[in-house]
Amino acid sequence: MCGIVGFTGSQSAAPLLLDGLKKLEYRGYDSAGIAVLSQEGIHLEKAAGKIKNLDEKIQGGATMTGSSGIGHTRWATHGAPTDENAHPHMSNGGRFALVHNGIVENYVELREELMAQGIQFKSETDTEVVVNLLDLYYAGDLKAAVLKTVARLEGAYALGILCKEEPGRLITARHAAPLILGVGKGENYFASDVTALVAHTKDVIYLEDGEIADITPESITIYDTAGELLEKSIEHVTWDVAAAEKGGYEHFMLKEIMEQPEALRATIEPRIKHGEIVLDDFSLSDSELKKINKIMITACGSAYYAGSVGKYVIEQLCRIPVEADLASELRYRNPLVDEHSLLVVVSQSGETADTIAAMKECKARGARILAIVNVVGSTIARLADDVIYTWAGPEIAVATTKGYTTQVAVMDMLAVYLARRLGRLEDGEYKTLVEAIRSFPELVQQSIDQNPKLPELAEKYHGHNNLFFIGRNLDFAACLEGSLKLKEISYLHSEAYAAGELKHGTIALIEEDRPVIALACYEALLDKMLSNIREVKARGAEVLAVVLDGNREIFDEADDVILIPRTHPLLNTLPEIVPLQLFAYYMAKSNGCDIDKPKNLAKSVTVE
Ligand code: G6P
Repeated sequence: MCGIVGFTGSQSAAPLLLDGLKKLEYRGYDSAGIAVLSQEGIHLEKAAGKIKNLDEKIQGGATMTGSSGIGHTRWATHGAPTDENAHPHMSNGGRFALVHNGIVENYVELREELMAQGIQFKSETDTEVVVNLLDLYYAGDLKAAVLKTVARLEGAYALGILCKEEPGRLITARHAAPLILGVGKGENYFASDVTALVAHTKDVIYLEDGEIADITPESITIYDTAGELLEKSIEHVTWDVAAAEKGGYEHFMLKEIMEQPEALRATIEPRIKHGEIVLDDFSLSDSELKKINKIMITACGSAYYAGSVGKYVIEQLCRIPVEADLASELRYRNPLVDEHSLLVVVSQSGETADTIAAMKECKARGARILAIVNVVGSTIARLADDVIYTWAGPEIAVATTKGYTTQVAVMDMLAVYLARRLGRLEDGEYKTLVEAIRSFPELVQQSIDQNPKLPELAEKYHGHNNLFFIGRNLDFAACLEGSLKLKEISYLHSEAYAAGELKHGTIALIEEDRPVIALACYEALLDKMLSNIREVKARGAEVLAVVLDGNREIFDEADDVILIPRTHPLLNTLPEIVPLQLFAYYMAKSNGCDIDKPKNLAKSVTVE
């Protein structure tokens, strides 16, 4: 999704803005631009395509002088990714430059209103409407003009504003799109997320919806949409610069896959004390917990698939009905939730628009909200009643890996923790489960180490355009994520199917050499999987089986195998998914794809 940055201080703004935009690249974008205030007025440069096009155009920032400015990476919503539609947008006459993340829903009527007053538009964007509205309302008082402008906007926005008549001053405003201020010494910043700030400052202020910041090199003043001053605290982020860089790996995705043992350690270790799972961050009392008669899990993309794992494990251990639903569906289906429902919201970024909307919908109906989130201080984290942070560290590759596995680890911990509190787990079984969770980091490392042939397997399979993932129960939940990983980065069509459903349609597509990736780690249903493997083999499929160490009968049936170390039968997903992430990575590499920034995808989807 779009990324915005802003800087004001005494250094040259353009190189800093360019650097900030590069840090936001992972959010997904198709064009970029920068506006800097110089002696002559606002200097604007933009370029469709990768940031390097802009970088070359402005020679790393050398062609743009000025010590305050704004920048943007655009992920097209209104109009094609062209130079004209790229941000920043200027008002007629060039008094204002503005960058925007989000969608202004009433832009058509605002545009007509402005056109009737003789204002001309150069782009197809909703943003150009905002900058011209601002110009229309400006009569020498910037704050008053901003307040009047945002009062007219419906929809979502994070805005960055630069005014020719206000040197050194920037304004940002937030409603339903992320925005963070970076507090420096004699200089200040804003950005869509902290990865663009940590190289310069770790002191940040999280803006809330309906807040506006007036920024100069020496001061930050925050007020609400009524213009009333607000007191906000400065928070210190702990992410370091190295954590947001590649560290010698060819791609962020590979780095993040390899970081999973460490990320899981950070997620799990602080939460196991004296052999007990301790979720201090979950404040539901025993009596409140006993009243919960339904758990709903909602999320988008891979976070939803982590929720699908949670559904199986929580339901199995807690014996409470659990539903997992896509946030984009849940928000519009008049959900049956009330004060006896626990809504578990899962999100790496904490900023996904559909997830936020589903969460608000359920909150309004009385549900208790528990969020599982990676990014500290994000919108979802702040809106939830309780938050369990995954502490995976910054995730840069668009395709999530450590973000997903740490979510699954929290789901597993939550299931065991809730089951224990509800009195549904015997001491012995509880200890076994806690120990198994504690050993996730080693288990995942083992799973990586014992599958060195994944690049060769990818070489063998990468030429096929259609692949199937099949599995049952928890294996099916893992299939969903394995298949998504493959399609999002290698652009190969792949489908995840519940193995028992094959015979109801999909088996018609199984033919000679069709790759079928059969996940067979859920041992309670091993015989059933074996039959499904035989069914597809009988129709000519080439089977790559994902199996637990020691299950010889599957080895003999399959063409190739990925070996998974054993753990508790309800907890296999983690060691099972990691080789599939690597398989997707090597398949994409064999196909020459842009692994960290797959086409059309965004890391953080802040529009509906
Ligand atoms: C995007 C990303 C996915 C992610 C999904 C949900 O589509 O590309 O990797 O799973 O959003 O994001 P969230 O930040 O809410 O986990």
